[in-house]
Amino acid sequence: MNLRYSASRILHDEHMVVLALLNDLERVVLARKEPPAADDGEIGRFLGQLRGALAHEVTVHFAFEEDALFPVLIENGAGDLCDLLVEEHHVLRQTIEDVLARISAGTGSWTPQSWAGLRAVSAELVERLRSHAEKEEMALLPAMEEALTPETDAEACTRHEG
Ligand SMILES: [Fe+2]
Ligand SMILES: [Fe+2]
Repeated sequence: MNLRYSASRILHDEHMVVLALLNDLERVVLARKEPPAADDGEIGRFLGQLRGALAHEVTVHFAFEEDALFPVLIENGAGDLCDLLVEEHHVLRQTIEDVLARISAGTGSWTPQSWAGLRAVSAELVERLRSHAEKEEMALLPAMEEALTPETDAEACTRHEG
């Protein structure tokens, strides 16, 4: 897709990053049935990266979509799409909070129970967030390319706190 506006390109780039992160989450956490040892460096590094990336997803990416972009789209008649995406953000925020809480609780002493709990909620996150980002790539980006103007694009981009 040829994207004219910076706001669309910012979202597209962040979607690619989060989709790659979800692939890593599948490979590093979901594929591993046994709890890792407390000193497992790969798991420790990955979970640290995951925490930072999920915090960015909620506080920067979702906030940028909701506060800077959806108002422009609603003005342009795409209110139904925005309602659906906001509803998905709401569920995703809860799933992400659950993943972060389980990482905090389990880090340093994973047990079969705490690791199984992290894997279960991570599987839910992979499914929901992948489908959300793919939906936005297919529906939100074209709607933004339609609704934005050079002025509203520039204004929206000043509100992306990356
Ligand atoms: Fe979103
Ligand atoms: Fe998004």
